[in-house]
Amino acid sequence: MAKSKVLVVGGTGYIGRRIVQASLAQGHETYVLQRPEIGLDIEKLQMLLSFKKQGAHLIEGSFNDHKSLVEAIKQVDVVISTMSGVHFRSHNLLLQLKLVEAIKEAGNVKRFLPSEFGMDPARMGHALEPGRVTFYEKMVVRKAIEDANIPFTYVVANCFAGYFVGNLSQLERLTPPKHQVYLYGDGNVKVVFMDEDDIATYTIKAIDDPRTLNKTLYIRPPENILTQSQLIQNWEKLTEKKLDKISISAQDFLASMKGMDFAGQVGVGHFYHIFYEGCLTNFEIGEQGEEASKLYPEVDYIRMDEYLKIYT
Ligand SMILES: NC(=O)c1ccc[n+]([C@@H]2O[C@H](COP(=O)([O-])OP(=O)(O)OC[C@H]3O[C@@H](n4cnc5c(N)ncnc54)[C@H](OP(=O)(O)O)[C@@H]3O)[C@@H](O)[C@H]2O)c1
Repeated sequence: MAKSKVLVVGGTGYIGRRIVQASLAQGHETYVLQRPEIGLDIEKLQMLLSFKKQGAHLIEGSFNDHKSLVEAIKQVDVVISTMSGVHFRSHNLLLQLKLVEAIKEAGNVKRFLPSEFGMDPARMGHALEPGRVTFYEKMVVRKAIEDANIPFTYVVANCFAGYFVGNLSQLERLTPPKHQVYLYGDGNVKVVFMDEDDIATYTIKAIDDPRTLNKTLYIRPPENILTQSQLIQNWEKLTEKKLDKISISAQDFLASMKGMDFAGQVGVGHFYHIFYEGCLTNFEIGEQGEEASKLYPEVDYIRMDEYLKIYT
């Protein structure tokens, strides 16, 4: 079977750039949307040019020009959106409704992967304000996709290692603390941590796979299901140094939201669901889902003790 042609929308983004690389690496003809709005953003332009150098096609198109999106989509079989969705960066998930309209009109797309790559929004109906907006908007996009009968795969990628591992899951920092570490409750809730390049590899593996058609792909490989305490122990073993642990109760953690800006409040809410409630692991993957490492056992995913070595 010929490999599908892929269009990545949001290709210069944090996860998007890795999706582009994985698509090229797995031999797909890869197109990346080049938006005129990037203007003088030299970093984005140079990244796009580096994709081109590696064999990607840059295709001009704008969310302000429906026709240009339709034309871009007509070139490919699969569309992957990695639209921004993190409040302390930018959050434009609902713009994807324009993409859904364009996919509907183009009529040729065999698979659409909207910007998800986090928790499963379908299981987050109870989520706290104000962070629930992320899940709500992802569900609005899902509904538009399903109403338009567009074939889809939703990727639930769990915790990006860059945001959750290097910092031992501490808020408001990206590197390991030197002396003391906050522990969420007893630190024994199971979480799933993933290297972002592995997320991209699994995502591209899924796009032509009939087993993931109209399903959710959960990236939850067994050796990357760890508690926060286990993550800290990995770090202590690597550095041969013990950190002081300060346990925070759920109540105190939630109270810390007070006085924070919007992005901070969203972050606390998401951390609460992950580290106290266990929302990444407190359910079995049912009929509507598949687990990535079971489907693709050939992927030698990065374990977190290995990942942490870059911070030593
Ligand atoms: N699981 C986790 O731990 C985790 C962590 C972070 C993010 N995520 C999820 O991953 C997804 C992507 O997030 P990200 O952090 O990778 O995003 P990002 O880097 O902040 O942005 C991705 C891309 O969105 C596009 N974009 C932003 N504003 C736009 C606008 N006004 N019009 C058109 N395009 C616009 C840009 O595309 P161009 O390349 O065209 O400029 C940008 O590169 C989100 O769904 C987010 O929720 C999950």
